[in-house]
Amino acid sequence: MEVTKVDDGKRSFKGRGVGLALVGLTGGTAVVLSVVAAPFVAPALRKVCLPYVPATTIQVNNVLRALRGRSGTLVDLGSGDGRIVVAAAREGRFKCTGIELNPWLVWYSRWSAWRVGVSSNTTFTTADLWRTNLTPHSNIVVFGVQEMMPDLEAKLEKELSSDGCVVACRFPFPSWTPTATLGEDIDTVWLYQRPKITVTQDNGRPAQENDCMARDTHHNT
Ligand SMILES: C[S@@+](CC[C@H](N)C(=O)[O-])C[C@H]1O[C@@H](n2cnc3c(N)ncnc32)[C@H](O)[C@@H]1O
Repeated sequence: MEVTKVDDGKRSFKGRGVGLALVGLTGGTAVVLSVVAAPFVAPALRKVCLPYVPATTIQVNNVLRALRGRSGTLVDLGSGDGRIVVAAAREGRFKCTGIELNPWLVWYSRWSAWRVGVSSNTTFTTADLWRTNLTPHSNIVVFGVQEMMPDLEAKLEKELSSDGCVVACRFPFPSWTPTATLGEDIDTVWLYQRPKITVTQDNGRPAQENDCMARDTHHNT
């Protein structure tokens, strides 16, 4: 009788051990999944929700077409998996930076750049685009959401260099006049350019026809 009791105790102890291991495994998996998923969910909790939606291949090509003839520094605001930055770096004319909140995407982007041999021309930073000074960048790319474009327009009015340009994907700026529009539907990109040379008009004032920030006075009156 006593032997049977000892066996039952061992069996229940063994069962409890397996149960605890399963609870530990499930809990551990849940923690790992939460740590990985949190940076993808975090943008939804911000004032302006800017989720991770990668650019299509056509969209990336439209961005490169818009930047044809340009060179210098380039930044992608919210660079996601780094596809626009890597594609621009492969053109060989830009020193490229990606600014991205999600650290997993930043690490993936670095690996992606290394894989195609453009690490030396690319930098990926885990940072908030709203807290980043954009003055050093002469070419700025953004694939944002409609709600953020007025605030971004205001930020760029202060920080875009006098010969800088901005390429907006899918959502245009509310007040600026695009220099060019490329592509269609969800792949549309708008190029906004500031003039490199200020042309003087007959009346002595600087001509502003080519400045994306010049307001269309005909519509305002
Ligand atoms: C629409 S995706 C665009 C990704 C990439 N530019 C592309 O075209 O494939 C927007 C990205 O911005 C990132 N993001 C959201 N808020 C941000 C912020 N405040 N600062 C930097 N990146 C942000 C998101 O994590 C997401 O990866």
